Amino acid sequence: MSPSLDALEARWGRTGAVTFAERYGGPVALLQAGGATAVVALQGAQVLSYLPPNQREVLWLSPVAKLGTGKAVRGGVPVCWPWFGPHPIDQTMDQTKPAHGFVRARPWSVTGSAAKLGRARLVLAYDASPKSQPDWPHRALAEIEITLAETLTIALSTENRGENDLLLTQALHTYLAVGEIGAVTVNGLVDRPVIDQLSPAPMRREHEPISVKAEIDRIYQDSEGPVIVTDRKGGRHIRVSKTGSRSTVLWNPWVEKSARLGDMGGDGYRHMLCVEAANAGNDTVTLAPGERHRLTTELSVTKICVSG
Ligand code: BG6
Repeated sequence: MSPSLDALEARWGRTGAVTFAERYGGPVALLQAGGATAVVALQGAQVLSYLPPNQREVLWLSPVAKLGTGKAVRGGVPVCWPWFGPHPIDQTMDQTKPAHGFVRARPWSVTGSAAKLGRARLVLAYDASPKSQPDWPHRALAEIEITLAETLTIALSTENRGENDLLLTQALHTYLAVGEIGAVTVNGLVDRPVIDQLSPAPMRREHEPISVKAEIDRIYQDSEGPVIVTDRKGGRHIRVSKTGSRSTVLWNPWVEKSARLGDMGGDGYRHMLCVEAANAGNDTVTLAPGERHRLTTELSVTKICVSG
């Protein structure tokens, strides 16, 4: 049975920093620190909102977002774990092997909270085993640690608690909110080898900053540095930096795929771009029994300075 909001508040509430409420039909944690706020769903340990001080919302969220439906909510920062994309072996995408792993629509447990030095922190955990996930022959603990200050940091740690090696692919699938996709430029991925998930063509490299003018679904390999999304309509740069990740995914479903997905809203694709800190494509992680891996992403925003 899930703990009540009162029980969560009594155990993990931190005055002025961490509180619990119901939003989008399910339990969420509300974080506050230094004028910034964030909303985190206990379903999927998914950050749904990040509002830095004196800024607009940084994360795009589906206009039909609803928790507790058994389906992953589109938007915010879904946690794709313990595999990214279709299941590495079974690609039938049946009920037990959904795309992007099995934790997005599941309830996570709150295991920690803190308020100090102008930061609010929340920790959630998911204990995965063949009991919680039939057909998955491993035992592993996934932990999401969210730290809100002026910036937002999300850390996804995995501990292999089984007796065999665990092959992991994963992503912090960040949906950034942008003013207008046609007025966006993405820097930080030039000359990286690209796996284009929309084309069987061999890996290639791009020599210019990226503009998005159609559906895009690419895994940039050997990309450890920060990605800067310049949103000219929104008047800001959004910086996505990361650790523990050598691959970055860019995704926008554009018109036709949005229609198929059904939860993008009429023109939602125009106002979002996913920049995902990942271990995907050739960038896989193998954990021996007892080993841990930590993937982090940090989001920060600066205004575009207009000179002259
Ligand atoms: C991206 C993948 O990370 O997520 C895409 O690269 C996928 O291939 C997209 O379509 C959305 O996935 P989902 O399961 O949330 O619809």
